[in-house]
Amino acid sequence: MLKIAIDGTAASGKGTLAKNLAQKYGFAHLDTGLLYRKVASDLIVKKKDTDNNLEYLSCKYAKEVEFSELKKEYLRSEKIAKLASLIATYPKLRKILNLKQKEFVDINLNKFGGCILDGRDIGTKILPNADFKFFIDASIEIRAKRRLLEKNISFLHENDEKCMLHALIVKMKNRDKLDRSRFEAPLVPAKDAHIIDTSLMSAEDLLLVVTKIIEGRKNIKEKNK
Ligand code: C5P
Repeated sequence: MLKIAIDGTAASGKGTLAKNLAQKYGFAHLDTGLLYRKVASDLIVKKKDTDNNLEYLSCKYAKEVEFSELKKEYLRSEKIAKLASLIATYPKLRKILNLKQKEFVDINLNKFGGCILDGRDIGTKILPNADFKFFIDASIEIRAKRRLLEKNISFLHENDEKCMLHALIVKMKNRDKLDRSRFEAPLVPAKDAHIIDTSLMSAEDLLLVVTKIIEGRKNIKEKNK
């Protein structure tokens, strides 16, 4: 049974890698960012995102989150991401969502023969003894371009595209800064993580590199049996 931890920055390719690996090996996969996004979305929908009791309410909503509600599409906005990153600094909220992530592993590890979690603190906090840890990053310009492509917008003028790209770079830089500098579970590579820069790689290249690492180590373990 394999546990795979994937951490990294936004739009670095970690989510696609996690999905591709889950498909390849038939393992269960949890995009842990969706837990933070769901709580942020609930705060926005219930118009509580500027409430003085943000920490208390985040914890309240976090306890109510169901895995079946984590539908990606409507949680994808930058507004939700920004609030998710802010509430992710609350230690009490992280404690509740950490338990949910561990519950996911407990339920699915035996059932699927393996679990893949992607996020910001998987290798350092959630699965410190994962069989494989990967830390995925890419240049901010490339990551912002990927996010823009996902939005599938057709621009009438080149300048509009440049403006939107610039705005995305600023937002993503701010979120990275908050994620890297928070006191509780900051975004840092685990000491034993494979660090991969995907700036010049396609999703297929990344899957190939990571699969080689996994298969290589599995072969060594089998030889040593
Ligand atoms: O990965 P995604 O961009 O969906 O995550 C949204 C936010 O949730 C991140 O910017 C981060 O602040 C928070 N997060 C976290 N720990 C995780 C996953 C996400 O703090 N394991």
